[in-house]
Amino acid sequence: MNQSKQPIDGAPEPRFDSENEVGHLPVLAEETLSALDPKLGQVYVDLTAGRGGHAALVAQRLGATGRVILFDVDAANLAYSAARVEAVSSIRPDTVHASFASVARELERMGVVADLVLADLGFASNQVDDPARGLSFMREGPLDMRLDPAAGMTAAHLVNTTSERDLADILQRYGEEPLGRKIAAKIVAARRDAPILHTVQLADLVRSAYGARAHTSRLHPATKTFQALRIAVNDELSALSAMLGSVSTAARRVHDGRPSWLACGARVAIIGFHSLEDRLVKQCFVDMRKNDLAREITDGALVSSDSESAANPRSRSAKLRAAMVGHSKMPEKL
Ligand SMILES: C[S@@+](CC[C@H](N)C(=O)[O-])C[C@H]1O[C@@H](n2cnc3c(N)ncnc32)[C@H](O)[C@@H]1O
Repeated sequence: MNQSKQPIDGAPEPRFDSENEVGHLPVLAEETLSALDPKLGQVYVDLTAGRGGHAALVAQRLGATGRVILFDVDAANLAYSAARVEAVSSIRPDTVHASFASVARELERMGVVADLVLADLGFASNQVDDPARGLSFMREGPLDMRLDPAAGMTAAHLVNTTSERDLADILQRYGEEPLGRKIAAKIVAARRDAPILHTVQLADLVRSAYGARAHTSRLHPATKTFQALRIAVNDELSALSAMLGSVSTAARRVHDGRPSWLACGARVAIIGFHSLEDRLVKQCFVDMRKNDLAREITDGALVSSDSESAANPRSRSAKLRAAMVGHSKMPEKL
């Protein structure tokens, strides 16, 4: 835990400038606020603080007695979001530079009982826009893809050391890429000559595996491959499963009247960007409902309006689901 005035390890000085905030537009902002329904004095935990867009909106509604705890694996985004929350509210947030997979351990250590929890999954625009992060096939850069640039294995390591069979499996499972086998074979053949170290080099290889299909494909041919490698590099689905498991366990403790890091009546909102994420979230919420641990607040998944989709293309794939912990009366659906 860190108070936001303290420097966060590995993070450059945050430079939040409200006049020129360009890093990231929070998706489904209104829908998220309606689902969370923040009130004065509540405790808000943002598991994916990013550029602090959602956190700033929520913090403004909590008043001086509210509390904000921010998580992010990216130390620079964590520092930036903390500075942003402080700039727009009278709250000095606590920051946790850790994966949301460890939410239970971290909040229990801090003695926090959360009223509101948000996870806006995946990456922020400033991360994909930075060529040095290697997340975009449109920008020449090192094949890195780590959301925490200080930890773990890079995409280059994965691409150059994984067996052809395992690579194909990653592309098919995490990218739902029908040409996974062909692309994996291309990668393994190419790396016999020289390692694959750059984004555009990999994107060109994928395009060559697509052949004539590259011209008719609606998406850029490298879209699914990059998604799959990013998910594998950051172990995204394991982290999400661990976090959802912690939410269920905490809701079970509420149900049984035992101490929990989630308050009775806590609202948990999760925004996913692809079917693999949404499936896990949906299943968790359905299981909690069946076990009388929580009720869904949203009627299915909420998606962006036409105007938001036009203004922010990233919102087009966003799906918001929210649930309320506890077995009290069903709240009105959104
Ligand atoms: C979509 S952005 C969040 C944007 C934020 N809601 C806003 O409005 O600015 C996702 C953020 O989550 C972080 N992240 C991704 N996986 C994470 C994990 N397992 N634990 C903590 N943070 C994670 C990324 O580094 C990124 O900064």
